[in-house]
Order: sequence, then C-alpha cells, then structure tokens
Amino acid sequence: MPEKKKKKAKTQTICFTNNKGGSGKSTACANLGYELSVAGKRVLLVDGDMQLNLSLSFFDEDRVLEMAESERTLYRAVRNKEDLSGYIVRTPYEGLDLVPSTTLMSQVDYELFSMLRREYVLKQCLQGVKDSGAYDYILIDAPPTLGIWVINILCAADAAVVPIEASPWGFFGLANMFDFLNGLKELTDISILGVLITKVDERKNYYRQAREILGQYQSIRVFDSFIHVDSAIEWAQDASVPVAVYKKNTRSALEYKKLANELMR
Ligand SMILES: Nc1ncnc2c1ncn2[C@@H]1O[C@H](COP(=O)(O)OP(=O)(O)O)[C@@H](O)[C@H]1O
Ligand SMILES: [Mg+2]
Repeated sequence: MPEKKKKKAKTQTICFTNNKGGSGKSTACANLGYELSVAGKRVLLVDGDMQLNLSLSFFDEDRVLEMAESERTLYRAVRNKEDLSGYIVRTPYEGLDLVPSTTLMSQVDYELFSMLRREYVLKQCLQGVKDSGAYDYILIDAPPTLGIWVINILCAADAAVVPIEASPWGFFGLANMFDFLNGLKELTDISILGVLITKVDERKNYYRQAREILGQYQSIRVFDSFIHVDSAIEWAQDASVPVAVYKKNTRSALEYKKLANELMR
C-alpha cells in the first residue's frame, strides 16, 4: 500500500497586541516563543516595534543596532513589499528565528499610507514564509499603537493574544482595545486567543479584580496561565536572554512554559 502522504502542518500566526505600553507584550512574545521552541516547535519571531525590545531579548545592544542599521529589516521589507524569507536571522536557540526591527519603523504608517491594499502589506510579505511550512508558529510583537501598521499586524495574524498588566491602569482602555478589534471584522477574521494577565503581584488584589472584570465579558477568553511579577525577567532582559535561560526554574519561566503548553493544546 502506498505510504500516506504526510500533511504539512499549518503555520499559526499569533500577534501580541494592546495599545497600552508596558503591558508585557514583548516579554510574552519573546519568552513564549522560546518555550515553544524548547517544546520542539519551529518558531519565527517578528519584531514589529521600533523600540526593538523583541530583538533585544535575544541579542545585545550592539548587535541589535547593527541589524537595525542594515538593509535587512522589517521596515525595508514592508516598504519594498518583499518576501520576509530573506530577512530572517537565527537566534542562538535551536528552532527560534527572528526578523529584526529598526527605529525607522516609526515611519512605517507614513509609507503604508499611499500603498494599494495598505492593510495587507505585511500579510503579503509573510505569505511565502507561511506557505513554505518552515515554521509551526510565527509570533509578531506589536507596538503600543492602533494605527495602520498595527492593522497590518492584525490582518497578517490568525490570532491575537492581549497581555494586560494586573494594575488599575492596566484595565483602563481595555474596552476600547476590544472595540477596536471588533471593528476590524470587515478586514480580517482574526480570532482573539485570549487575555494574558501579567505582572501579578500577590501583595495586591488586582489579579482577582482582573478576573472579575474580565469575567463580565462572556466573549473574552482569559488564559488560565498568568505571569507573576518576577525580577528575574528584568535581569534576563538586561542579559538579552529568555528568563528560563537566565534562571531555569524561576517562577515566571515556569509560567511561560505552562502558557506555551496551554497554547499548544
Ligand atoms: N512578569 C514580569 N515581572 C517583572 N517585570 C516585568 C514582567 N513582565 C514584564 N516586565 C517588565 O515590564 C516592562 C514592560 O514589559 P514589556 O514586555 O516591554 O511590555 P510592552 O511590550 O507591552 O510594552 C519591561 O520593563 C519588563 O521588563
Ligand atoms: Mg513592547
């Protein structure tokens, strides 16, 4: 009997979005990406923010600036509507690659403005990579804005994770964020995978409050996994390594591993 042809697994593209800065998007994108790669998945990270935080999670400042000043950045690819395959760099970790960003990303909205089908330029740049089946996951880190570039990220992704900080101002504006996402229904059928509660501090009761508030919205799924505040995160970022590499069994590292398992289910 002829051997059954193995079906190529589909690449899942997930973006991390919230127009509030400091909600933990870049940290989640980097550490979740790392944990998925440790679990044997092939992961491509796309640094969509001019702050270069996702790139800095894996490379030191000199190397990040060198990449940012090179011809091979996300900004160039988008501006020239080029396939992102030629823009990928390897991180020091097996199965974990990155498309670096540049501070020029601050001009990307301006560049997109005059383009045809301007909402779908990133989607088009990613199509070749997706179709190649080279990755199980593409994770895109979004900046804390809601302009045309973020719309590009949302149109390129199959699903979104919305990290929120467990703090009073962390919830403020969340309803606007969801209104914005719902307003994109004509452009994309992106699904909201869930809200990820980050920087949970046991000494304060914001975590419980967050669950209660989010519980009122039946349509919003909240990940069971959540991330405690952990100083190892900042030390790891200072050393440009994932938190699990900095300190293997630190609380947040185990929580990101748990989140990766929840996501893979
Ligand atoms: N679990 C955590 N514990 C402690 N600090 C954290 C944690 N998650 C994120 N941070 C810190 O909070 C700040 C904002 O996180 P970041 O991931 O950059 O948010 P965003 O990308 O949404 O702006 C960073 O300085 C980061 O080091
Ligand atoms: Mg960020």
